[in-house]
Amino acid sequence: MHAEKLSFDLFNALPDVECQERIRAAKARLGRKVVLLCHHYQRADIYQHADLTGDSLKLARLASQSDAQYIVFCGVHFMAEVADILSKPEQTAILPDLAAGCSMADMANLAKVERCWCELSAVLNAEEEVMPVTYINSAADLKAFCGEHGGIVCTSSNARTIAEWAFARRPKILFFPDQHLGRWTGHKMGIPLDEMMVWDPDLENGGLTVEQIRKAKLLLWKGHCSVHQMFQKSQIDAFRQQYPEGKVIAHPECNFEVCLNSDDVGSTEYIVKVIKEAPSGTRWLVGTELNLVDRLAREMLPQGKIIQFMSHITCMCSTMQRIDPQHLAWVLENLAEGCVVNAIQVPPHEAELARVALERMLAVS
Ligand code: 13P
Ligand code: SF4
Repeated sequence: MHAEKLSFDLFNALPDVECQERIRAAKARLGRKVVLLCHHYQRADIYQHADLTGDSLKLARLASQSDAQYIVFCGVHFMAEVADILSKPEQTAILPDLAAGCSMADMANLAKVERCWCELSAVLNAEEEVMPVTYINSAADLKAFCGEHGGIVCTSSNARTIAEWAFARRPKILFFPDQHLGRWTGHKMGIPLDEMMVWDPDLENGGLTVEQIRKAKLLLWKGHCSVHQMFQKSQIDAFRQQYPEGKVIAHPECNFEVCLNSDDVGSTEYIVKVIKEAPSGTRWLVGTELNLVDRLAREMLPQGKIIQFMSHITCMCSTMQRIDPQHLAWVLENLAEGCVVNAIQVPPHEAELARVALERMLAVS
């Protein structure tokens, strides 16, 4: 690996059009050495360069199946970590802007999860009674925690299958960091709301009594997505009043009321599939990130489908948005010159345990 040749300062001030040309030229030079994986929430000026697109589950699989030397991940940090963990040792995962994190993933950390596990162990035999399940939107050390404690990873598209796997092995689940995906999954499995307790990591015993911990089937970490929390039931009500024939679809990171009042709930890939397969002339209210909804609206217009965004205010994932043409041009030109910048390398011991939890997920789903 060479030292960094091209400084980001040379790209920072470049106009977008010039970056677009340089991205195309660098990709052409790199050929099959590079693959650009792109999450559905990426902005249009990045998405147009994608080799492969998808939701978190699809992208994790694609990363594990790719033969490219460089996997450039246009998404957020935990996705690039998964690509690094699941790819071969000779491959390199790259995140064009290292500041592209996930605010939900940051709501749980290893110290807090370990404290939670200790507190649960004082009340229960946690290793036998509680299955740790982490949403893929989490740092690699939390996936490693799950790998070490018999647990597993899930995504928004396989959460129910994974929860069934978990309940077949232990009577309770500790689900982190997204309480909403956990609650919606539990609800779909018929678990009553009073058997799904929120675990507040900043309070002793999660803010729960010993009886509540014993009664809970699902312990839901008090975390959420700041983008999806902007969607509200009142927005669905207003849409239904104006367009009674319209359909509503939401991502399971939305709050319980929004999911309950939607016609359909699913991952980003699922939302894309349902809307693409819908009859022409249909109208949809969509509760997920704006870049995806805008793209669907543009793509579906020729088929006479009308796609509306659920909120009246802009809900973009500001960290996904950080992957811009300047950063993408910078990493690709460096790669074309033989320099790796912004490689994501999960420490080997952590990667090994995290891989256990991820491979359990891939095998089950
Ligand atoms: P998907 O796996 O559905 O793409 O969700 C990822 C995500 O971060 C949604 O906010
Ligand atoms: Fe994280 Fe929410 Fe952005 Fe998804 S939309 S990457 S959960 S902050």
